[in-house]
Parts: sequence; C-alpha cells; structure tokens
Amino acid sequence: MSPERRSVAVVTGATGGMGQVIALELARRGMNIITIARDPRRAVDLQEQVLRTTGRAAVEVIAGDLSTRTGITTAASTIAARVDAIQVLVNNAGAHFPEHRLTADGVEMHVAVDYLAAHGLTTLLEPQLRRGRARVVNVASDTLRDTRQIKFLGRPRPATLDIDDLADLARLNPRPGFVPFEAYARAKLLTVIAGYDLARSFAGEVTVNAVHPGIVATDIIDDLVPRPLRALAPLIRRSLLTPEAGAAAALRLATDAALEGVTGRYFVQKTGTTTPAITYRHDVQQRLREASDRFFS
Ligand SMILES: NC(=O)c1ccc[n+]([C@@H]2O[C@H](COP(=O)([O-])OP(=O)(O)OC[C@H]3O[C@@H](n4cnc5c(N)ncnc54)[C@H](OP(=O)(O)O)[C@@H]3O)[C@@H](O)[C@H]2O)c1
Repeated sequence: MSPERRSVAVVTGATGGMGQVIALELARRGMNIITIARDPRRAVDLQEQVLRTTGRAAVEVIAGDLSTRTGITTAASTIAARVDAIQVLVNNAGAHFPEHRLTADGVEMHVAVDYLAAHGLTTLLEPQLRRGRARVVNVASDTLRDTRQIKFLGRPRPATLDIDDLADLARLNPRPGFVPFEAYARAKLLTVIAGYDLARSFAGEVTVNAVHPGIVATDIIDDLVPRPLRALAPLIRRSLLTPEAGAAAALRLATDAALEGVTGRYFVQKTGTTTPAITYRHDVQQRLREASDRFFS
C-alpha cells in the first residue's frame, strides 16, 4: 500500500499508558497515526518505537491541549486540513483531577478532558469519519456504573447526573460538594450518553462504542488509588493489568472484523454490558447534544 493510500487512525492520549500501546499496535497494522499532545516532545518515544517497529515515520503529532475549546477545535481543524478520511478514532485521552479546577472556558476539568475532548473531536471530524466509514472508540471507565473506590463496602453506586445541569455544561461538577472520583465518573457517563446518540446519528457509516479497559497500571492510577491505600500504590500497580493488556479492549473494538457494524454499545473489556438507565434516555441525550453543540459553536 502506498503511504498516501494508508488508512488513518487518530489516537488521543498516546504519549503514555494505554494510548501509546494502541497507537503502536495500529501503526504495526499498517495505519498512519495522528495524535494530539500537550507537549509534543512527550510523543517522541512513540514516534521512535513506531519507526523501529515498522520502518515508517508513521506518527504525526499535533500540539494541543484537549482541555480547552480552542485546543479541541484547533486540533480538529488541523487534522481535517491534513486528511480527507479517518478510519479509526480512539478517544483515549483522560485524566483524574484531585482538586476542583475550571478550564479557561469555565467548565470543570473532568467535563473538559474526559467528555468534551472526545465529543468535540468526534463531531468536528464528522465528514472525515463518515468518508472513512470509521470506528470511533471512546475509552470510558466502569466508575460510571459504580463510583465506589472500595468495592466491597456497600452496594454499587452508579454515577449520577442532574439533567437540569445539562442546560449549561458549566453547571456540571460544581465546586460545592466536589468529589473527584464522582466527577470523573460523571464525565465518563456523559461520554457514554453522547456516544449512544452519535451512534444513532452516524448509523450505517460510522460506529461508536465505549469501553472500560480494566484496572490498568498507568500514571492515572496513582491519582485514583484511594488516599488510605496510597502507601500500597506500588504493590497495587503490580496487581493490575499491564498497559498492553488494558489496550487490548480498545484495539479489539477498533479492528476486530467480527465487530464490523457493532455500534452504540458499552463494553467492560470484551464483554458488552448495560449502563445506567439515564444513558439510554433520548431526552437526556438530546439535551446533552444541544449543550455540547452550543459549547463548540
Ligand atoms: N488506568 C486505568 O485503570 C483506567 C481505567 C478506566 C479507564 N481509564 C481511561 O483510560 C484512558 C487512558 O488512560 P491511561 O490509564 O493510559 O492513563 P495515562 O497513562 O495517564 O494516559 C492519559 C493520556 O491522556 C493524555 N491527556 C491528559 N490530559 C490531556 C490534555 N488536556 N490534552 C491532551 N492529552 C491529555 C495524557 O497526556 P500527557 O502526556 O500530556 O499527560 C496521556 O497521554 C483514560 O481515558 C482513562 O480515563 C483508565
């Protein structure tokens, strides 16, 4: 295949953790990779690994911070100017913030990084995704089905969402009563809600699925370990999935021929499962869509 005919995968958060593995594996399979990095120097490792493994300089890095509206829209327009069609979009970038922080746009950080980045790239790149008959994979987190950090105490506590807050995304995850893990889970819940809506509107051309990769030993985990267990962090890390094992779930959704046409689903690793009832409500999906479109307009 000549380089200009190669298919394109956009993978966010490929400077480390699972994203790096996902990007490397897609490059190994012959795709050209585009990633967006706050600090492009952090993507050098990936570029070198891909060059070593495939013999091709197959990773293009776009500088950009996906926590801001400008970062997201600039990244999308840069990609749109460079490629006509995208075959795979893995919205993998994500973060957990122990403190309440607002972006320059006035939205809470989890809402920005763990929801708006994925939603913005997917909607702003719609023509390229449609032309590529793309698979979109949103890396979510099963915290959306259970926000308890210590699972053996009590019963599962799904992420909550006050639908009135969808009138304005700046109302989500407010400072009063801020609980970081719940705020993270709520943002992932939004990604799943929006994904179900996008899967319907893209039907027949683009598939959109979400996945929980398992509990994986990456940088994000240091923040996610509950405070009382922090001293045990190195031990905990050793008991978790490797980034390679965690990346397998998103890679499967992005590439497995057996999943051709599968869309609007949520997977815990390989297993398709249901999400909280609110995620399936069309009125909630519609409100979120309108608020998100207003944010990017
Ligand atoms: N690890 C787990 O157990 C687990 C479980 C469930 C879900 N997840 C999800 O899996 C995904 C990958 O996470 P990981 O575990 O591989 O963690 P990670 O190693 O911390 O990787 C996160 C990636 O996201 C990027 N990122 C963060 N904020 C960004 C921003 N504002 N703009 C651009 N890029 C940004 C980071 O880039 P920098 O190099 O700039 O920091 C990094 O490449 C995330 O969506 C996470 O929520 C992880």
